[in-house]
Amino acid sequence: MARCLLNQHKLSSLIFTVIVLCLLANHSSIAEKLPRLEHQRVNQQSLNFLVIGDWGRKGDYNQSYVANQMGIVGEKLNIEFVISTGDNFYEDGLEGVEDPAFYESFVNIYTAPSLQKIWYNVLGNHDYRGDVEAQLSPILSQKDSRWVCLRSFILDAGIVEFFFVDTTPFVEKYFTDPEDHTYDWNGVLPRESYRAELLKDVDSALVQSKAKWKIVVGHHTIKTAGHHGNTQELVELLLPILKSNKVDAYINGHDHCLEHIMDKESGIQFFTSGGGSKAWRGDIQPWNAEELKLYYDGQGFMSVQISETNADIVFYDVFGKVLHTWSISKELKANA
Ligand SMILES: *[C@@H]1O[C@H](CO)[C@@H](O)[C@H](O)[C@H]1NC(C)=O
Ligand SMILES: [Zn+2]
Repeated sequence: MARCLLNQHKLSSLIFTVIVLCLLANHSSIAEKLPRLEHQRVNQQSLNFLVIGDWGRKGDYNQSYVANQMGIVGEKLNIEFVISTGDNFYEDGLEGVEDPAFYESFVNIYTAPSLQKIWYNVLGNHDYRGDVEAQLSPILSQKDSRWVCLRSFILDAGIVEFFFVDTTPFVEKYFTDPEDHTYDWNGVLPRESYRAELLKDVDSALVQSKAKWKIVVGHHTIKTAGHHGNTQELVELLLPILKSNKVDAYINGHDHCLEHIMDKESGIQFFTSGGGSKAWRGDIQPWNAEELKLYYDGQGFMSVQISETNADIVFYDVFGKVLHTWSISKELKANA
């Protein structure tokens, strides 16, 4: 009888120890929950990359022409990688890992030698209309080693840290009014806790970041004069986190245009690179002319060059013509 009690005591102290260890493990994982990728720098002067969004249409709608110009600019800048802001495969993402669209819209389109670098992809709303897990699958990376796609992640490139955020689950209407679309919410439900966790993780990763430049990338707009308008859910939930952590820029797609908004109140630069294929929507909403530095409703892409002290952004059209350039110096910004 006495022995039995002792065993019970031992058992409960063991359970207690396990609980404490779990809490500790959980606590340290709060510090860093998003997957972290390290980018090994190639070019020591500056980090150069391209940004493209809303592209996968089997070469149509000028996708191939944009790809060609990306190859030329990529060569000139000796880029280290490409960032895709999502809506990678139209109309409805990939059907599965064997979907030939992966070749027709990606592998066989971006063929220039300078584009044979890693592509860091996020998902857009159209990607969620297919088999989402196909785009996240390592099988795609086996088919083409450039392909890296995660829902949300950190990319550490030394002087710059990128925070990729899965924005589609934020948008209410895809859940409440999906029209005739079917979304693949595998891994996202329950939506409220998915969103809350993600916001918490992005915030804590930003708080801890020691990088000189902090850039957040997501598919949906926060500030735009384009067709879709500002994504209200992101304005309410994500923007305050970007402001409190003083990020340098937010880069998105979704609106099929090239756009630069300099937000006077927060000092954050909002860049839209969503001109990878179908464009020319023609509708632009009024925006403060002092803030709207570029609005181009056609196809094209964006290049970024970042050093310790400077960032240079350039937007190009389908012929490679420069539409807009913008530069900032860190010192000047700190004094502003
Ligand atoms: C392709 O680009 C040219 C030049 O910008 C434009 O005039 C034309 O409408 C585009 N074609 C399509 C299908 O978007
Ligand atoms: Zn979209």
